Amino acid sequence: MAAPNIDSEYRSFGPGIKVAVIGAGICNYPSERPSVSDSPSILPSDATEGQLLVGSNNQRVHLIESKSRTDLELAFAPPSACYPGLTTNIPTNLMFASLKPWIEHTDDYVGHSAVEQYLQELSQTSGVNDVTIYKTRVEDARKIEDGKGWRLRTITLDESSTSNRVIERAWDFDALVVASGHYNLAHVPNIPGLSELKTHFPDRIIHSKEYREAETYKGKSVFIVGGGVSAMDIGREITNFAKSITQSTRSGEFDLPEVLLTKRINRVGGVSQLSVDPKYDGHSLRSNESIPAKIYLQDGTELQDIDRIILATGYLNSYPFLPHLHSDDTCADEVGDDIIIGAKGDMVHNLHKDVFYIEDPSLAFVGVPYHVVTFSTYDYQAQVVAQVFSGKSRLPTRAAMKSEYDERVKTRGHGRRFQSLMDVDLEIDIHCYISSHCFMVEKPLPEIGVLVKAPAFRPFLIQLF
Ligand SMILES: Cc1cc2nc3c(=O)[nH]c(=O)nc-3n(C[C@H](O)[C@H](O)[C@H](O)COP(=O)(O)OP(=O)(O)OC[C@H]3O[C@@H](n4cnc5c(N)ncnc54)[C@H](O)[C@@H]3O)c2cc1C
Ligand SMILES: NC(=O)c1ccc[n+]([C@@H]2O[C@H](COP(=O)([O-])OP(=O)(O)OC[C@H]3O[C@@H](n4cnc5c(N)ncnc54)[C@H](OP(=O)(O)O)[C@@H]3O)[C@@H](O)[C@H]2O)c1
Repeated sequence: MAAPNIDSEYRSFGPGIKVAVIGAGICNYPSERPSVSDSPSILPSDATEGQLLVGSNNQRVHLIESKSRTDLELAFAPPSACYPGLTTNIPTNLMFASLKPWIEHTDDYVGHSAVEQYLQELSQTSGVNDVTIYKTRVEDARKIEDGKGWRLRTITLDESSTSNRVIERAWDFDALVVASGHYNLAHVPNIPGLSELKTHFPDRIIHSKEYREAETYKGKSVFIVGGGVSAMDIGREITNFAKSITQSTRSGEFDLPEVLLTKRINRVGGVSQLSVDPKYDGHSLRSNESIPAKIYLQDGTELQDIDRIILATGYLNSYPFLPHLHSDDTCADEVGDDIIIGAKGDMVHNLHKDVFYIEDPSLAFVGVPYHVVTFSTYDYQAQVVAQVFSGKSRLPTRAAMKSEYDERVKTRGHGRRFQSLMDVDLEIDIHCYISSHCFMVEKPLPEIGVLVKAPAFRPFLIQLF
C-alpha cells in the first residue's frame, strides 16, 4: 500500500467527509451537532442503517453454534469495571460535555446511574444516538488499498433471531476517530508465582475490573496490589466488611498518598513473589479456608493467611481492531514511526498532541491522556478533531508534528508519564495542555471550551484521578 501523502490527506478533509467513530462513551461527542453540510458525518460504532453515509456495506451472516446466547453476549460485550457502589471522583461542575450541563443542583459527586443517564440524554439531544449502531463491534480497521480511506469490518449480534447469528459488515470512510476508551484490557502484572496461584485458586484472585460487591469480602483478609484509585476505592468500599486489608505498592510515581487510605488499610511495599504452600494437596478450598500460599515482599517480609487477592494494577492501552499499528514485542525505544502500541502498552506512540496519528492524520484518537479532567478534556479534543476533519482548521506539517513529538519524548520519556498530565508536584496542568492544543491548528479555535474557565485544579487533586 502506498504511504499516505499528508498534503493530499488534508485536501480530503472538509465538509461532507465521512467519519467513523469507534466507541459510544463520552469521547464520541464533538461539541457541534454533526451535520452533513458543514461538519463531518459521524458514525459512532454503536445508526440505523438507512442513515449511514457509507460507501459500501457488504454483509455476511455467520451462525455461531458452539456458544450459549448468554456466553455469546458476554463474549461480545464483556462487563465493564463498574461496580454497584461506584460514584464519580471528579466533581460534576468539571465533569461535563459542553453540549450539556448537568441539571441545576446536581450533587458534586454522583453514582454511576446518574452518569449513564447523563450520557444517554447527551446522546439523544446531540443527535448522536440517531447515527449510532449499537451492539456492533469493530473487528478491524485499515487503510483501503488506494490509501484514500478506511475500511472497517464490524460484527453485530442479530437480535431478531433466536439462533446465534452474527452479521459481519464492511464499511468505507474517509477518516477514523478512535474513542474506544482505555480501560478495556486489564493489566495483570508478571509477578513470579502469580499465574500458578491463579491456576490453582481462580476465584480467589481477581483484577479490579471484576470487583463488584463489598459483602463478598466479609470477614476476609484481603491483599490489594496497586496504588491507584481502584485500589483506594475498593479498599474504602470493603473496609467495613473485611477482617484485614493490606495494600501493596511499589512506590510508583503516581501512587496516591497513604493519607488518603482509610485507617484500616495497611500499606506495604512491592511483591517479589507468590508461592503455593508445597504441602497443598490440590483440594478445593472451603469458603473459610485461606489461600495456602505465601506472599513475599521486596523487603523480605512474608505474608500468609490471605483469603482474597485483588489486582488493582490498572489497564493496558490496546486497539485490537488496529493490529497493523500494534507491535506487541517491540520495546518503547525501538518503536518506529508506524506503530502506536509497543510491548508495554503503557502509552500511545506517534500521536500529535495525543490526538492525530502523525503518519496519517486521517486517524485520530480522543481520550488518550491520563490524569485529566476527563469529560472536559475529551470534549475539547473532540472539538479539535471536528475542526480539522471539517476543514475549518489545518494541522501543522508532518515534519513539524514529528519534531514536536520527538522533543516531548526527550523531555518526558516513554511510558505512562508521557501521556500523564500530572507534574512532579502531583499538580495537573490542564490549562497549559489545552492552550498548547489551541495552537495546534493553524486557525485557533474560536471557543476554547469549559476548561479554561475551570478553577485551579490543585484543591481537587484528591478526587481527581
Ligand atoms: C472504575 C472506573 C471508574 C471511573 N470513574 C470515573 C469518574 O468518576 N469520572 C470520570 O470522569 N472518569 C472516570 N473513569 C474514567 C472513565 O472511564 C472515562 O472518563 C470515560 O469512560 C472515558 O470515556 P471514553 O469515551 O474514552 O471511553 P469509554 O467510556 O470506555 O467508552 C468507550 C466505548 O467504546 C466501545 N468500544 C471499545 N472497543 C470497541 C470496538 N472494537 N468496537 C465498538 N465499540 C468499542 C466500548 O464498548 C465503550 O462503550 C473511571 C474509569 C474506571 C475504570
Ligand atoms: N470514580 C472512582 O471512584 C474510580 C474508582 C476506580 C477507578 N477509577 C478510575 O479508573 C482509572 C484506572 O484506575 P486504576 O487505579 O484501576 O489504574 P491505575 O491508575 O493505572 O493504577 C494502577 C496501579 O497498579 C500499579 N501497578 C501496575 N503494575 C504493577 C505491578 N507489576 N506491581 C505492582 N503494582 C503495579 C501501578 O503502580 P506503578 O505506578 O508502580 O505502575 C498503579 O498504582 C482511573 O481513571 C481512575 O480514576 C475511578
